[in-house]
Amino acid sequence: MHLPLQKDLHSNKISITPSELATIICYPNFSIEDYTIRLNEIHSLGINTILFGGRTKIGRMNIVGKGCVGLVVKVKIEDKIYACKIRRTDADRKDMRREVLLHTIANSIGIGPSLFAHTENFIIMEFIDGLTIIDWIRQQQNLSTYKVRDIVVTVLKKCYDLDKIHLDHGELSRLDRHVLISEHNNVNIIDFESSSNLRKISNVTSATQALLLNGVIARRINGLLNIPKNEIIQILRLYKQKPTSYNFDRLIQIVRMA
Ligand SMILES: Nc1ncnc2c1ncn2[C@@H]1O[C@H](COP(=O)(O)OP(=O)(O)O)[C@@H](O)[C@H]1O
Ligand SMILES: [Mg+2]
Repeated sequence: MHLPLQKDLHSNKISITPSELATIICYPNFSIEDYTIRLNEIHSLGINTILFGGRTKIGRMNIVGKGCVGLVVKVKIEDKIYACKIRRTDADRKDMRREVLLHTIANSIGIGPSLFAHTENFIIMEFIDGLTIIDWIRQQQNLSTYKVRDIVVTVLKKCYDLDKIHLDHGELSRLDRHVLISEHNNVNIIDFESSSNLRKISNVTSATQALLLNGVIARRINGLLNIPKNEIIQILRLYKQKPTSYNFDRLIQIVRMA
């Protein structure tokens, strides 16, 4: 099978070796069985190009990202660019079905990168060209408190939408890895690998903790906004008991006034 590979969108085309392709699609442990299966999947998905580039390094290659379940690379299918999540060979699951199912539920209310296609080992979805919240704050030239407040409110509203349909994301306490801010300050929640529609929901509570109470993002935001932490803690307690729109609106009001 011929698979033209590029090192970077903007550089000259540099083909990578078959062994580098094998490294990416069978990360971290190569086996000929997995490689054959995965090459067939690449073929059936119609992936014709893998575009290298991004902040994560695998050997001498740069890719979009890496987690415990997958590597994410940019790919081209019929001249359109997508993000492709490749199941790691050491992932604690045998396929991507459950993640796809829960991601599909999120998509049904307009949350998460739009899913395009999937196989056992690959998920093809919208590529989000975005920044983490910390990087977004760093990159703002005229950082206004209004803009920061707006991002916080938008993240929380999306979390509330997930709470309302009882889909618990599961990793929003590590918000910096799971929210990307793209052009026009669009907020994107990514990665539904730890999600559940059976567990107690904690999207709003986890995201509020990370944004306003503890950790690196909260420290950064508290340096910009005047967040009354005690009031937030009180209202979060109420919301935890009764995740009603009334309690959620009270939380938003406190943020808006900060
Ligand atoms: N659709 C996407 N668009 C752009 N970057 C993405 C996308 N999905 C994931 N990423 C990047 O890849 C990283 C790893 O993906 P993730 O889904 O979190 O993998 P894992 O389930 O293994 O944690 C993310 O932290 C993010 O930086
Ligand atoms: Mg992840």
